Amino acid sequence: MPGNYFKTKPYSLLMEEMKGENRLRRVLGPIQLTSLGVGAIIGTGIFVLTGKAAHDTTGPALMLSFVASGIACIFAALCYAEFASMTPVAGSAYTYAYATMGELFAWIIGWDLVLEYAVGSATVAHGWSHYFQDFISIFGIHLPHGMTTAPFDYDPGLGKLISTHTVLDLPAILITAIVTVILVKGIKESASFNAGMVITKLCIVFFVIIVGSFYVNPANWRPFAPYGFTGISFFGKTLFGTADAGGQPLGMLAGAAIIFFAYIGFDSVSTHAEEARRPNRDVPIGIVASLLICTVLYIAVAAVLTGMVPYNQINIDAPVSDAFAQHGLTKARFLISAGALTGITSVLLVMMLSLPRVMLAMARDGMLPTSFFGAVHPKFRTPYKSTILTGVFVAALAAFLPLRILAELVNIGTLLAFVMVCAAVLIMRKIEPDAPRPFRAPFVPFVPIAGMATCLLLMFSLPAENWVRLIIWLAIGLLIYFAYGRHHSVLTRIAQGTNTPIPTAKPGVEPVAGR
Ligand code: ALA
Repeated sequence: MPGNYFKTKPYSLLMEEMKGENRLRRVLGPIQLTSLGVGAIIGTGIFVLTGKAAHDTTGPALMLSFVASGIACIFAALCYAEFASMTPVAGSAYTYAYATMGELFAWIIGWDLVLEYAVGSATVAHGWSHYFQDFISIFGIHLPHGMTTAPFDYDPGLGKLISTHTVLDLPAILITAIVTVILVKGIKESASFNAGMVITKLCIVFFVIIVGSFYVNPANWRPFAPYGFTGISFFGKTLFGTADAGGQPLGMLAGAAIIFFAYIGFDSVSTHAEEARRPNRDVPIGIVASLLICTVLYIAVAAVLTGMVPYNQINIDAPVSDAFAQHGLTKARFLISAGALTGITSVLLVMMLSLPRVMLAMARDGMLPTSFFGAVHPKFRTPYKSTILTGVFVAALAAFLPLRILAELVNIGTLLAFVMVCAAVLIMRKIEPDAPRPFRAPFVPFVPIAGMATCLLLMFSLPAENWVRLIIWLAIGLLIYFAYGRHHSVLTRIAQGTNTPIPTAKPGVEPVAGR
């Protein structure tokens, strides 16, 4: 029955599920949620990807790339905030799509979120590895070359993948394993540890901006946009701007699509809506506040970085600490590397924490096997099986795939999720016009439409092969849906009259850190 693919989860059913006894514990307030957001946002994007983006794609116009990307995110954030305030249950965009666009779209978006969090974690683990190696090199320690990075990388000059003559990225595997163990044990005990990491990275970012500004040479900002202000292609055909030897778009907008990665994370606040004390008010605050704080900081860091070092001399592995090293500030380099390591670790913690929660929401709806994805450790009360699976997958990706390919794949997947959330807000306003909306996105339909348009623009500013990779990923997801979710989903079983009670979270899944 094709109609079933578009069966939506009724809003009333979502509300009913929220009343269940066995929900996650409501322990997070606005400050914790904002801190969770900042914890998820500031990481590999600002500390690592800025280097590659400024060097290869934008030049000093990187500052404007952060503005462009930030604008797309603000539109999406307002839509996320409206939805999170309406349906404060775990599951984020997946849950919103289920309520508005039907089961098939919900699956697609859920699968897309798996991409965002799993491949995103691998990207972040890579970034961690860069700073780890920068940090130990201060003490003259170097890893054997074969263990320093993924075995191949993209060379923009040649426009193709080249061998790096390595085997794998060992530090990326190690940090993923450590975070997996922490998450399986439960991070309740280490909540203050997480807050400590967020404060540390904010201090480092302020340090970079304030101390770095004394070393800015405005001459380095000229030419401001050596690669131009655009960089839009359509499936490999350059529409605006120029392209590198491999046909990858260059320019300010192309850079915005790359450093969009730096903003990913504010949406993860919505995956914790079920654990918020006053989700209707605090989740929108957490989403919007964390995004605004990071936007301002990012623009300032980009200005300082490109002002301290000519764009074509920016280091692409550990750009921020290297900029200080280039000015002879070795103590600062030590501080920044240590701070970046701490900051990136907290991003990895939040990202790897979010994925099992999305999968838990999908398992509750019968889209994934509850026995595996809903399994809670008898002692630690954490979703340990899905956490370990996440860890193994992330480690494998981080070990063998290069940073830029991973980051671009995450970006296109996340941008697709944002487009769907913006669309879902429009649809929900139509089908449930009177449902209580404690937070309403302003200027609807302008904001959701502008959100869709800007996110699509960024999707087209990414190199074309990302569309192919995204389509392959979604095709794998559809195979799984038709083989499993389609037959086991709770809504299908209700329609067939074979439904058992809706599975809920097992009692006592540990809440997230950030308190
Ligand atoms: N925004 C996060 C980072 O930059 C994913 O690491």
